[in-house]
Amino acid sequence: MSWPLHGSNPQYIYQFLQLPKQEKIIDFSVNINPFGPPPVIRKKWPEWHAAIADYPDPYGKDLVGMVVEKEQLPSSSILLGNGGAELIALVARFFAGKRVLLIQPTFSEYERMCHAYGCEMTNFTLTEGDWRLSVAEVEPLLKTHDVMFLCNPNNPTGILYSEAELINLIKACEKHQCYLVVDEAFYDFVEKPVTIAPRCETHPHLMVIRSLTKMYAIAGLRLGYMLADTRVIEQLKGYQAHWNMNALALLAGQECLKAHEYVTYTKNDITTERNRVTGELSKMGYIISDSEVNFYLLRIQNEMTSYHFFVFY
Ligand SMILES: Cc1ncc(COP(=O)(O)O)c(C=O)c1O
Repeated sequence: MSWPLHGSNPQYIYQFLQLPKQEKIIDFSVNINPFGPPPVIRKKWPEWHAAIADYPDPYGKDLVGMVVEKEQLPSSSILLGNGGAELIALVARFFAGKRVLLIQPTFSEYERMCHAYGCEMTNFTLTEGDWRLSVAEVEPLLKTHDVMFLCNPNNPTGILYSEAELINLIKACEKHQCYLVVDEAFYDFVEKPVTIAPRCETHPHLMVIRSLTKMYAIAGLRLGYMLADTRVIEQLKGYQAHWNMNALALLAGQECLKAHEYVTYTKNDITTERNRVTGELSKMGYIISDSEVNFYLLRIQNEMTSYHFFVFY
């Protein structure tokens, strides 16, 4: 058995490390909202039973309508997905066989899916420490690549790139006819969120991915959406299976997008806890990335290996 590809499903980590499964665990391998789904989901759940007998709305019209309101973009610029993961797979298919630029370290699915679609990949690795991205350094690479993936805030560092940095980047991408995919799966955990989404209307090379599974803790339901130019959305839609969105996810998504107080409560708590925990870990000698979200990258010091870290802490 090999090391699991992703977090969550902790039974596979226990199996890999040949450790007995514990009764009570806190799963640090997953970065979803620790408060669970908004309470309204549990309340409404019994009512939704009737929805599973019929095929779901293949257009997810009601939910798309809410996304239109939220993002102030036309419905033709919106594509619902079975989690951000489905949208990443669709993007990889869109760029099948093309040249892809990945800004590392980052979420492993970009590489895995682009590899599955025969893309040629270049890794541009950020410098450990502040993990900043210099548009001037990346720009020469945009000339020779068809698409660049950027995760903002980035998984695993939690580093947030500013609106000004993103605008510079999309301008450079447009200049060189290189697409820019910005994965904003964690954008709503940031105290003052930064998004490049409104630029989708004016920048045909921009694609923005959002996930609802993180903030609203509905990873088991699967829900996300993409914002992009109408022509891009049309093409990606053509790759999707009919009824890719299940009825429960569509109903839950509508409630999630109304749960503003829950988002504020979560963000406030996460910010306080992150500051407390990273402060304590820094005092213990660990090097922590300057995260703005609900996870951070931790550098183990001295003789300790990650095996020791996982097993003894
Ligand atoms: C950066 C990033 N994007 C997208 C996803 C996929 O999220 P989901 O498919 O659950 O919406 C993840 C999951 O961990 C992620 O970390």
